[in-house]
Amino acid sequence: MNRTRFLLTSAILLAGAGCTAAGSMPDDAAALQASVQRGHAIAEQRCAQCHAIGQTGQSPVPAAPLWRELVMIRDVDGLAESFAEGSFVHSDGPVQMPEFTLAPAEIDDLLAYMKSLRPA
Ligand code: HEC
Repeated sequence: MNRTRFLLTSAILLAGAGCTAAGSMPDDAAALQASVQRGHAIAEQRCAQCHAIGQTGQSPVPAAPLWRELVMIRDVDGLAESFAEGSFVHSDGPVQMPEFTLAPAEIDDLLAYMKSLRPA
């Protein structure tokens, strides 16, 4: 086998290995995916009655920002502290954002979900 042929064969083998690796998700990607899913569940239970939390649809409460727009203009990580404090939004509007308490893990999950709304 000449050298060029050897290199070619190696390249094909490596490409094949790459495909298999991409098929099985690395641990942290899987963990992030699970966190995003938990965040989505929390959002559905506690936030979706007012906010549009997904990629489509309008907020049931018009004054409540669409999350897909919110995540483009806000520093999402910066929301963590206000989430932890429980009350962070003040509105003079007809529908006030309620105070809510979230555990640190729930906040992580919510933020992971919110970030997942950003276009890749
Ligand atoms: C009863 C309706 C209601 C619910 C439930 C609700 N929100 Fe809101 N939210 C609002 C309204 C109205 C606003 C905009 C006016 C304001 O700032 O109070 C808002 C604003 C926000 C903002 C923007 C704050 C800012 O400073 O720009 C964030 C972030 C937010 N909500 C997150 C959440 C999360 C997370 C949940 C669920 C845990 C939630 N909301 C549940 C009504 C709601």
